[in-house]
Amino acid sequence: MGMIEMLRKVPLFAELDELELASIAALSSSIDIPKKSIVVQESDPGDSMYVILDGEVKVSTYSVDGREVVLALLGKGSFFGEMSLLDEQPRSANVTTMQDSKFANIRRRDLVQLLMDQPVISLKLLTEIAVRLRKTSRVLERISSMDVPHRLYAYLVDHCVRFSQPNQDGRYNTVLPTHQLLADQLSTSRETISRTISQLKKDGVLVQCEGRGKMLVDVEQLEDMLDDC
Ligand code: CMP
Repeated sequence: MGMIEMLRKVPLFAELDELELASIAALSSSIDIPKKSIVVQESDPGDSMYVILDGEVKVSTYSVDGREVVLALLGKGSFFGEMSLLDEQPRSANVTTMQDSKFANIRRRDLVQLLMDQPVISLKLLTEIAVRLRKTSRVLERISSMDVPHRLYAYLVDHCVRFSQPNQDGRYNTVLPTHQLLADQLSTSRETISRTISQLKKDGVLVQCEGRGKMLVDVEQLEDMLDDC
């Protein structure tokens, strides 16, 4: 697939016509990066933004005690590296590939021009930044006010509603991240996540399906458990 076809699938550029997509393709360089590689290093200077054409990345930082804190998982069609471009500060976090990934890389000068020429892209970029800020605030609020099991229940509800559809019986078929990745997103240990998931399985809230991480999730029951919190 050519760069224009791949850019057409990116929500940020959805409103653009053929010619406009071609001009973005002309100023983007395509980069293939293997799984588990650092794409952006926290504190480094940043002068380009990345659009994810294929694959998935993890945005993370480290706490003072050296624990990895996962701020977000971003997939195909999403973008990162816009913050340093906008505020001209060093990179705010590390970005690591979770799978072999392909990116379109756009330099600051070109992106700034693009944002001025295409207000619709600026608006979409701002909207996505607002969505991320809300999500980060919600996670922070949960970490400060909920115990680990309730943080996990809330995460599972969000995850199911965002990434899957309910079955006829109202339960959601979904694929969960690894226990370590869940722990790093919820500020806890892998052991605590494993224990909580085992309990949810015993209670019939989660049913393990065939395939790595595949689960049937009773979201309604999780919502009741959150109401009791
Ligand atoms: P930048 O600071 O240039 O480099 C790291 C990138 O990670 C950053 O731009 C954002 O694209 C992304 N990022 C940083 N913090 C968050 C967050 N809380 N949620 C989602 N993405 C983030």
